[in-house]
Amino acid sequence: QQYFTSHQPLKGKKALVTAGPTQEPLDPVRYISNHSSGKMGIAIADALATAGADVTLVLGPTHLSATHPGVHTLRVVTAADMYNRSADHFAGSNIVVMAAAVADYRPKQVADIKIKKGAGDELTLELEKNTDILRTLGAQRPAGQVLVGFSLETNNEKEYALKKLHEKNLDLVVMNSLNDAGAGFNHDTNKVTLFDRQGNARELPLKSKKEVAEDIVKAITAMTGQQ
Ligand code: CTP
Ligand code: CA
Repeated sequence: QQYFTSHQPLKGKKALVTAGPTQEPLDPVRYISNHSSGKMGIAIADALATAGADVTLVLGPTHLSATHPGVHTLRVVTAADMYNRSADHFAGSNIVVMAAAVADYRPKQVADIKIKKGAGDELTLELEKNTDILRTLGAQRPAGQVLVGFSLETNNEKEYALKKLHEKNLDLVVMNSLNDAGAGFNHDTNKVTLFDRQGNARELPLKSKKEVAEDIVKAITAMTGQQ
């Protein structure tokens, strides 16, 4: 904290952060979503702004918000909205951190009136895949951009994290394990491991999401060539 308030290594840099869940509507009163609160991604947006960056935060539905005045927040609901807003800012960003828990699928049909309970005991929903925002934009990243993704898993965490690092063309992947006590949804703390393309792995101890965000921003700062 002290380090960033006295020294703004990311001054003049533009950053894009995605955070929070997405909600995929089924009808006017129902949706499919997940347990993300957006806390980790919001902490990263605040930490990037504290380090001097001009930050655009594309934020899914959550009651939380960024506190730093250098964070410009665009609120979105669906994965499609999140993709569109992110695409608007992607090419012009020096730093991109995609921390959102994007719904992988959306209902194929969205009813415009409330779906009524039928006579039968079962209901089958048909889902279709959402665009993978990080993979799609990562395939067209501008030279010199630092691109960071997240990986949240319950099993084979390291293998899947490295797969995402390479397949999504990332510089850094932040691995979260739901098996670690104090990590994951709705906690104020997190335990993560950072993997880079050079094959370095850095396991951070359990700490507050704010401190984890500062560590991630320091790693990003080093990758932009700033001190
Ligand atoms: N992501 C994204 N758009 C999607 C899905 C994921 O931008 N439609 C991003 C997330 O923000 C995260 C990274 O991709 O930075 C990994 O997300 P994750 O859900 O862990 O992995 P997936 O690639 O979706 O694969 P799976 O859920 O099957 O593990
Ligand atoms: Ca997913």
